[in-house]
Amino acid sequence: MTGANTGIGRVTALALARRGYRLILVGRSAQKTQPVLDEIAHISQAGPNHFVPVELDDLDSVRRCLRQILALDLPLHVLVNNAGIAGLRGQTKQSYEMAFGVNHLGPFLLTQGLLNRLQSSSPSRIINVSSRAHWMARSIPWELLQSPTRSLSGIPEYAVSKLCNILFTKSLAKRLKHTEISCFALHPGVVATDIWRSVPALLRPLLRLRPMLSPEEGAATSLHCIENAAADQSGLYFAQCRPASISPLAAQPALADRLWHFSEQACSA
Ligand SMILES: NC(=O)c1ccc[n+]([C@@H]2O[C@H](COP(=O)([O-])OP(=O)(O)OC[C@H]3O[C@@H](n4cnc5c(N)ncnc54)[C@H](OP(=O)(O)O)[C@@H]3O)[C@@H](O)[C@H]2O)c1
Repeated sequence: MTGANTGIGRVTALALARRGYRLILVGRSAQKTQPVLDEIAHISQAGPNHFVPVELDDLDSVRRCLRQILALDLPLHVLVNNAGIAGLRGQTKQSYEMAFGVNHLGPFLLTQGLLNRLQSSSPSRIINVSSRAHWMARSIPWELLQSPTRSLSGIPEYAVSKLCNILFTKSLAKRLKHTEISCFALHPGVVATDIWRSVPALLRPLLRLRPMLSPEEGAATSLHCIENAAADQSGLYFAQCRPASISPLAAQPALADRLWHFSEQACSA
């Protein structure tokens, strides 16, 4: 699971530990993840649990992370692509737009590198934490994906990256149709976490005006997809623990295929 040191990811990880899962927590900081590992050690005897470092804005770091995960030589039943950023502007190490790189490209490479392990551990599942913000995306601006974030708020780019999470889930479901790996995308709700910390200070109070769920409530749909969604619902997008509608753009197979090929090429460079 990525991004388990805080927010929705932390609560999801603790809930899984309570249910007896052993966890590999993948994140940026061992120091920030240690308190979660300590909490897990208190509530579960199922360990050992592990921390593996990754910077999702650097594909070389994702490759190192993959080598470390595979070297643990453990079965892998669930991959939760939870980590994400909103409003952070700039470019990744390989010069992709920041939200696209962190929220889609890094998780794309991580997932590809774990497919064989997920297959040998099947039945297994992949959970991609998306957002209803994907409805705001009007297109994938292919010509801007290798440029710095253009908008001041970073919100339009965030919307595109969350659209990519759904298109990626749909592509995966199609390609994994004859396997026992199922995959789900989801919107956790509007949740009181630190996700908007990089949005310009002027906008932050506006974002906080919305009614917000607690991180505990926000983890419910991830947990539903991990434990309760049916395998024949693979490829669907969930909100409030049930299948939800997606934007017309997110339902376009041709767009999903184009994104898949773009991402494959980006990750093989
Ligand atoms: N909160 C909401 O209202 C909301 C709504 C819809 C969707 N979501 C989605 O829910 C997911 C979890 O968000 P959250 O609200 O729990 O946010 P959060 O509390 O800010 O947690 C985000 C996590 O992602 C990690 N992360 C950020 N950049 C990273 C990078 N370059 N490499 C590796 N890890 C990185 C963070 O690590 P650090 O702590 O080291 O930065 C943190 O663990 C995200 O995918 C988000 O898009 C959230």
